[in-house]
Amino acid sequence: MNKVNPEAIRGLFVTGTDTGVGKTIVTAAITAMLRAEGLNVGVWKPVQSGAPLGKGVTDAERLLQITGIDERPEAVAPFTFEAPLTPMLAAKQDGVTLRLKELIAAGIPLIKRYEALLVEGAGGVAVPLTDDALVVDLIAELRIPALIVARSSLGTINHTLLTASFLRYHAVPIVGVIMNDGEVTEPNDDPSIATNAELIEHYSGLKVLGQFPCLHAEANSEMLIHTIRKTIQFEPIRQALAVQPMRG
Ligand SMILES: Nc1ncnc2c1ncn2[C@@H]1O[C@H](COP(=O)(O)OP(=O)(O)OP(=O)(O)O)[C@@H](O)[C@H]1O
Ligand SMILES: [Mg+2]
Repeated sequence: MNKVNPEAIRGLFVTGTDTGVGKTIVTAAITAMLRAEGLNVGVWKPVQSGAPLGKGVTDAERLLQITGIDERPEAVAPFTFEAPLTPMLAAKQDGVTLRLKELIAAGIPLIKRYEALLVEGAGGVAVPLTDDALVVDLIAELRIPALIVARSSLGTINHTLLTASFLRYHAVPIVGVIMNDGEVTEPNDDPSIATNAELIEHYSGLKVLGQFPCLHAEANSEMLIHTIRKTIQFEPIRQALAVQPMRG
């Protein structure tokens, strides 16, 4: 794999233990909070699959709509493919062979335009992006720390510890874990929710920054900021967005 070495970027990569765990909603919430604090932070979804641009349903469009950032969806998500497949395959169906170097190059205008970037991954850390790179390789190449979004429900300990271990194997610093209740959680039906965060902290040594509750209304930036203030320890996220020193 070619080494890409972009210039040092100020950013945070929001990954998750799976697809559908709440990366987009958490990315939007953190972005809205940072922008409310005065940081000109942008969003970047290096590759997305599952729907075309234009109907407002892709992650890039949802991120822009919720945060109110004035940016073209094509700039936020330079590679969008319609097939509901892992990005590497969805791209191939459209006759595109993705390469890590090109994925990163497409984000450079965003890197230059904003003081910092929140980058949303696709699925989890071991999702194929190119013929020889997984999402974790993109994170490592960007040299930015990762935040793990995990389900708060049963099964999350296993998924979160595996995700953390894979990121560490690739020397990616981890800011912490945000547990997300998601849209269907009935806390009373799942006694594991009360102890999952503590056990994840114990076995991983990571900090669980909080538990993002189920939102019962359409997300907007005011409501997301309010939710972050109430439920998430935000200081480690602010600290992570300091400029990362160049390596090598
Ligand atoms: N805390 C929450 N409250 C209410 N709905 C939620 C919450 N978290 C996630 N959802 C909903 O669950 C679905 C999946 O969440 P989201 O799109 O953020 O996941 P994701 O990890 O970004 O998925 P992908 O891998 O497709 O990028 C969405 O419809 C979202 O609106
Ligand atoms: Mg998403």
